Amino acid sequence: MSKAVAFPQDRSCPYHPPTGYPQTDDERPLSRVTLWDGREVWLVTGHGTARALLADQRLSTDSTRDDFPIPTERAAGLRRRRRAALLGLDDPEHNAQRRLLIPSFTLKRAERLRPRIQEIVDRLLDAMVAQGPPAELVSAFALPVPSMVICELLGVPYEDHDFFEERSRRLLRGPTAADTEQALADLEGYLGELVDRKRKKPGEGVLDDLVARAEEEGGPGREELVDLATILLVAGHETTANMISLGTYTLLSHPERLAELRADPALVPVAVEELLRYLSIADGMLRVAREDIPVEGAPGTVVRAGEGVVFSTSVINRDAAAFSEPDTLDWGRSARHHVAFGYGIHQCLGQNLARAELELALGTLLRRLPGLRLAVPADEVPFKPGDTIQGLIELPVAW
Ligand code: HEM
Repeated sequence: MSKAVAFPQDRSCPYHPPTGYPQTDDERPLSRVTLWDGREVWLVTGHGTARALLADQRLSTDSTRDDFPIPTERAAGLRRRRRAALLGLDDPEHNAQRRLLIPSFTLKRAERLRPRIQEIVDRLLDAMVAQGPPAELVSAFALPVPSMVICELLGVPYEDHDFFEERSRRLLRGPTAADTEQALADLEGYLGELVDRKRKKPGEGVLDDLVARAEEEGGPGREELVDLATILLVAGHETTANMISLGTYTLLSHPERLAELRADPALVPVAVEELLRYLSIADGMLRVAREDIPVEGAPGTVVRAGEGVVFSTSVINRDAAAFSEPDTLDWGRSARHHVAFGYGIHQCLGQNLARAELELALGTLLRRLPGLRLAVPADEVPFKPGDTIQGLIELPVAW
């Protein structure tokens, strides 16, 4: 009988890795896990090995390959489709696409957006304070902040947010494979129409810039534009929303750390970095080996061509060899080498933007609401299951 445990598993505490995964162990930085379809794949949990493998171009992210690991039955429906933009491409195709977008996601661009992000944060908090307490923080704040920011950046009308937020949620965690597929088709239909409108009447935004590039020789075609718009819109709001809600919950559950942060707001950037490490909301990056790969840090272990590899960012970011006392939330450490944004060629394109949003959202929330507290017992706050981006479903708060 196989000893491989199941992947993915639910967390038992929303900010700790699932206890059922093999934990980080220098002797064994990767082990076997079983997916829903009975397939065994590698689960990487060691930090050094994770970085070496994530930088290794012999691992592919092409999810249309028959041997690509499919983490859930729902996701199986998506595999038959064409290759996803950016994250679904290997180099050199990936690099060509990424180069189109890099200028829009530099640190400088994110810094220039700060005043506008601050206005959005302030306006949402004004409205929440005017109506409460209590309030439900996910819908009143954590979701609309990144959703409004990505709309402005891309040039997507925020009036349509109910539509694309609901489809994004179903794309990441629809009830069935058919529903997940339908959600993607809806999003692509919507963004296709938007791209066509921008062709006729250009506006200001990253998508408008891409549409203009499409007119140039060798520029992206319509299908590629829609694929890029889809990943940017979905990745641009769901992830950061989960970090804001779960980050707030984690701070409220660690009163000493919270007090340190309130006493010295200059700590907010390091706190954001440490929360990214600690919460590791994008848990379970997927790859397949194109060739045999002898594993660095695990003598004698070879990932064979065609084998699936899953990276548990939550366990990797708790590796004691990389972070001392990894289960302690600590503003004094340097957490920058975490893999919460991935590593290697697919490292998160939106990380500068995400950091700016998190610093302003969490920093302002704490400053404006010194009495912020949970409005229900901590263990009654509903959180997401292990098969999607981690975060809270709702966060009832008072102040
Ligand atoms: C705190 C929030 C975020 C987290 C934790 C996060 C996490 C990640 C991770 C782990 C990856 C790598 C996946 C892999 O290698 O398999 C990734 C890639 C990506 N992220 Fe983010 N992300 C966040 C916010 C954003 C935002 C705001 C955007 C805005 C557009 C974004 C856009 C992307 C894109 C386009 C990729 C694919 C990059 C490529 O393949 O070259 N992300 N993200």
